[in-house]
Amino acid sequence: PIGDAERGETVFARKCASCHQVGPDARHRIGPHLNGIFGRKAASFPEFNYSRSIERARDDGLVWDLRRLDAYLENPKALVSGTRMNFAGLKNQRDRDDVLAYLRIFSDN
Ligand code: HEM
Repeated sequence: PIGDAERGETVFARKCASCHQVGPDARHRIGPHLNGIFGRKAASFPEFNYSRSIERARDDGLVWDLRRLDAYLENPKALVSGTRMNFAGLKNQRDRDDVLAYLRIFSDN
């Protein structure tokens, strides 16, 4: 990602951390933890109770590359119509770039 990870940490704290954790002690909360999200198949934690919609998207081949993450964060229900992620979306491109740069820190690829 091309964003500013430091600013992205602030965006994450304001917009995502109510439901998601990252880092060495991250656990699933309302949403799954987001360590290793880049390049991971969607809905791939068997122990997390995903919506049927995102499981169907996973079965259809959805993988979280940069482009798909950007689309999901901009408008979750546009990418996965029945997603359980009740989040209006990050409408600002800079916010998305920055939060994705931050999440990238917790991914190996
Ligand atoms: C799923 C990111 C905000 C609740 C996801 C996934 C990502 C993500 C990448 C897919 C995970 C996977 O496939 O394993 C983010 C980011 C956010 C954000 C970066 C902030 C910009 C929120 C908020 C909530 C939430 C505020 C709660 C109100 C969920 C839930 C899922 C999910 C419940 C599972 C979706 C389903 O089962 O359909 N999120 N999220 N997220 N998120 Fe978020």
